[in-house]
Amino acid sequence: MAEPSVHGRIHSVFWERGPHQCLHSADLMQARQRSKQRKRGTKVARLFEQIDSQPSEIGEITLRRRRIPALGDRDIYEVKLGEEFLMSSMFVDAEVALSDLGLNETEGDNLSVVVGGLGLGYTAVAALKHQRVAELLIVEYLEPVIRWHQQEYVPLGKDINADPRSRYIHGSFFDLANAEPESGGFDPEAPGKQFDAILLDIDHSPRALLNASNASFYTTENISRMARQLKPRGTFAMWSNEAEDNVFMDVLREVFTDVECHLVNFFNPFQNRESFNTVYVARKPG
Ligand SMILES: C[S@@+](CC[C@H](N)C(=O)[O-])C[C@H]1O[C@@H](n2cnc3c(N)ncnc32)[C@H](O)[C@@H]1O
Repeated sequence: MAEPSVHGRIHSVFWERGPHQCLHSADLMQARQRSKQRKRGTKVARLFEQIDSQPSEIGEITLRRRRIPALGDRDIYEVKLGEEFLMSSMFVDAEVALSDLGLNETEGDNLSVVVGGLGLGYTAVAALKHQRVAELLIVEYLEPVIRWHQQEYVPLGKDINADPRSRYIHGSFFDLANAEPESGGFDPEAPGKQFDAILLDIDHSPRALLNASNASFYTTENISRMARQLKPRGTFAMWSNEAEDNVFMDVLREVFTDVECHLVNFFNPFQNRESFNTVYVARKPG
């Protein structure tokens, strides 16, 4: 049996139960209870549901909803890429902290902000809670992930859709970060635009990548290219599943000032213990 990950994002499948897999005894009791309730005509939620699954350039992308009786009556949403878990709604502290730490460091009002990687929308919605944010571009590579939000298959879709400050941008963050400012960039309607903050949560860490081709982004050359789309004193913040990475810190220090790596602790109910993620925050020189 695989060891559960100590980090917020789940790599292990030790607790995974698909529709054709065995139920554990607690679940069996729950299933019997549900069957009785069904006979009595009471409406009950399903324990597991695969909401959508679509092929993509980087693997099969799947949205699932489950209930784990031992963890109470709440729907848990999960996104998988191939066999890997990308995101769970079970613990989102560091995804929220990415916005809070990044935007608290960002100066000024009427902020234009980019979020790289939509996932289940926690970073995006946390950014929208900052009243100083005037515009939020959410850059997402996989069209199904955007559609799950637009069609409100996921809980935070309605918050993003209802907020006129937000806009989905379908494209690869890394390609748009690399674009020549005169002809491209994150905002297709405003080539060369500069932003107050860029908040990134795509790969598991600067070393653990969703796609091998992303590796070139975490270099001084390409982080500098992305920084052309930040205003002077603008903020770059990035989520990671791993402890502070000295090599990446050095890359950030070559491009930015005020570089910090914050530890975000949270309780992992699957392991019944504290766990952590990290958030890098850095400022473009003024
Ligand atoms: C871990 S999730 C982000 C979680 C998000 N912070 C949240 O609060 O739910 C990573 C997201 O990045 C997306 N992604 C993968 N490669 C990408 C790329 N090259 N450009 C933009 N988004 C990408 C994935 O489809 C996924 O939606």
